Amino acid sequence: MRITIFGSGYVGLVTGACLADVGHDVICVDIDSDKVAALNDGQVPIHEPGLETIIRHNLDTGRLRFTTDAARAVEFGLLQFIAVGTPPDEDGSADLQYVLQVARTIATHMREYKIIVDKSTVPVGTAEKVSACVAETLAERGATLAFDVCSNPEFLKEGAAIEDFSRGARIVVGTDSDRVRQAIRECYAPYSRLHDKLIFMDVRSAELTKYAANAMLATKISFINEIANLAEKLGADIEHVRHGIGSDPRIGHHFIYPGCGYGGSCFPKDVQALARTAHQVGHPPQLLEAVESINLRQKDQLFAKLEGAFNGDLAGKTIALWGLAFKPNTDDMREAPSRTLMESLWAAGARVQAFDPEAQDECRRIYGERADLSLCKRRDEALEGADALVICTEWKAFRSVDFAMLKQALASPIVIDGRNLFEPASVKQAGLDYYAIGRGDSL
Ligand code: UGA
Repeated sequence: MRITIFGSGYVGLVTGACLADVGHDVICVDIDSDKVAALNDGQVPIHEPGLETIIRHNLDTGRLRFTTDAARAVEFGLLQFIAVGTPPDEDGSADLQYVLQVARTIATHMREYKIIVDKSTVPVGTAEKVSACVAETLAERGATLAFDVCSNPEFLKEGAAIEDFSRGARIVVGTDSDRVRQAIRECYAPYSRLHDKLIFMDVRSAELTKYAANAMLATKISFINEIANLAEKLGADIEHVRHGIGSDPRIGHHFIYPGCGYGGSCFPKDVQALARTAHQVGHPPQLLEAVESINLRQKDQLFAKLEGAFNGDLAGKTIALWGLAFKPNTDDMREAPSRTLMESLWAAGARVQAFDPEAQDECRRIYGERADLSLCKRRDEALEGADALVICTEWKAFRSVDFAMLKQALASPIVIDGRNLFEPASVKQAGLDYYAIGRGDSL
């Protein structure tokens, strides 16, 4: 099957690479000619395990190409995926300008029936706007061509996107057209052969499903963080509580890990956008607003704990920071708790010595060279001359630590663990003051 994908960002690249890998012919279009040239050369601008190998292999097979030539790309595929960004507007709602720009491009160049597939995360009602935009552009051209617009949201997690695309639980499609259903079935047949993963529904429900899924997951995280903070005040251990509640299959063990708050390009943006939509339709989103404000407060927890540990005086202190990315296996620092912490530390006059296995370049790109930030090559280097250690990301490489060595390296024996990586008793046994999230000791 011939498939066109607009947008060679995270979602577009994973979709294009995976669809080419199962035998489809895929053209990915992007307006950034440097990016397109690099991709055609097998250089992938994002860190996603397995992605570069799949892209290189399919460039070699000829089933995957990157181009800036929109006219050729529109002519190519029956399915035209839109996978461009929907950044938040000033008021938190999703900005649709890039999505609608692609819709206009498709309508400008199409010469026969096309199926436009919204893969970008877009508010309910967007497919109707895309439809109106295509119809208007066709009318301006004086062309009468048939087309359909459907919604096919993605449920990829950064760091596990290839696995999620290939072995995801479901493929949600919003459409009322048999022709679309048939084409989408053909497109996803390699992934849906053994178990039918396709869930067809109306367009608006598919659009809402995406936001509802992310809002539900964000709610689970804010819920457990709220209980963790309560556990701290009450002298209980959230890790026991998590285990205790997770064993009930109605609750489950997944996605109830307490921490220093959720980050990334999806949860913060999507919770805000859904809340915005709710306001627009006159339904005040009480729960969503609580989820967001709990998360903002949670991101301040690490700094608050440090302030507690140093009696409010962090000026001139050097803080070692392990983990910059918003989660492991990615170099993405969008909305990362590490950023909230670093910015608060700098404002308080402290220095940061940070180490992250993947996100150092990204950190340099965001903050540039500054006297109060050192990016270290190894985790141990970040400890040299540091007053305390804070862990922001649960990279595998941080899970095993010689606590005696840690005690020796730090000027004050303070470890603040934003991801509950260690057993408090064994850290304390080494003479360290250990503060995790929701584990009894309140600072
Ligand atoms: C999320 C969803 O999990 C995907 O299903 C969705 O497709 C994607 O957003 C999207 O909309 O594109 P992602 O943002 O890549 O994926 O990362 P997650 O693994 O969901 O983690 C998000 C944040 O929640 C991270 O900061 C993580 O540390 C935090 N988290 C996650 C917790 O604090 N506790 C948990 O139990 C789980």
